Amino acid sequence: MGKILVTGATGRLGNAVVQALVQQGDAGDVAGLARDQVKAQPLTAMGVEVRYGDYTDYDALVSAFQGVERIYMVSAVAFSDRIAQHKNVIDAARRAGVDHVMYTGIQRLDDVLCPIDGVTDSDIATENLLKQSGLAYTVLRHPLYANDLPMFIGANAIAAGFAAPAGNGRIPLACYQELAEAGAVLLRQSAPAHRSYLLNSGSPWSFADVASGLSDLTGKAISYEPISSAAFLQAREREGWPPHVARFIAGWYAAIEAGAFDQTSTDLEDLLGRKPKQLSALLKDAFGL
Ligand SMILES: NC(=O)c1ccc[n+]([C@@H]2O[C@H](COP(=O)([O-])OP(=O)(O)OC[C@H]3O[C@@H](n4cnc5c(N)ncnc54)[C@H](OP(=O)(O)O)[C@@H]3O)[C@@H](O)[C@H]2O)c1
Repeated sequence: MGKILVTGATGRLGNAVVQALVQQGDAGDVAGLARDQVKAQPLTAMGVEVRYGDYTDYDALVSAFQGVERIYMVSAVAFSDRIAQHKNVIDAARRAGVDHVMYTGIQRLDDVLCPIDGVTDSDIATENLLKQSGLAYTVLRHPLYANDLPMFIGANAIAAGFAAPAGNGRIPLACYQELAEAGAVLLRQSAPAHRSYLLNSGSPWSFADVASGLSDLTGKAISYEPISSAAFLQAREREGWPPHVARFIAGWYAAIEAGAFDQTSTDLEDLLGRKPKQLSALLKDAFGL
């Protein structure tokens, strides 16, 4: 078998995929794509080969993908030219003779209900590029990482409760470590081509549920107040957030309120072979409780 290459291997998700691949099999058939030698040192220490390349550098990607059979493509950061970067990865994979590309996008109910600026449109475009590429591909649809809840509801939520523009919208969270583990299972199994997996906890929770879960864990009454998007943006502006970041998070909340994430699946449970972490465990880890 050729190598399994994980992009974004110096980041949270990609690194967790590499770690899961090493735990599930041989480090010798795993490679990580990196662009920073210092950040890549822990990969080498794990026995994983490091290949260098940037999503913006097509030629470097073609070189990095030589001898690779399967790629786990971590999506490029929002607020960048994600479609062009993903196109480089897909075109380079085809040029280098890669068999299968696995893309990590964000969960969505359908292509019409896709309100997250800078993310959903590029997910749809990337899926179309994969369909047209002739490569075998798999799309892994991820929910909001539970790990990022403290950033969403504010570090002060435990002390003072929180307000957010999510109404009664519900979202089935998951932690990136379990999403990574499921991806590694599929990479090791040789995932079926041309299908997508909806990876989430299997239970949808509202932000009132989050407040109630935090109250149970801390023994304090933690409140959730649904507010308007405009009020959320004004509050973040007062705290000095960059406006584009506040608008981005407001976009996620608007999607949650609109029901764009209110869809569960047992795909994650099936791949892990156990029930994914549920709300209390996810909150405990995310808030260090
Ligand atoms: N579902 C969610 O809730 C959620 C939350 C956060 C992010 N995301 C998405 O999922 C992706 C992974 O999340 P994460 O938390 O693992 O992000 P992260 O920790 O910031 O890692 C991103 C990785 O991508 C690499 N990278 C960024 N731009 C690149 C480029 N132009 N060429 C090559 N590599 C590049 C980074 O390399 P360096 O280490 O060199 O910077 C890093 O290894 C994000 O990029 C974002 O699209 C989803």
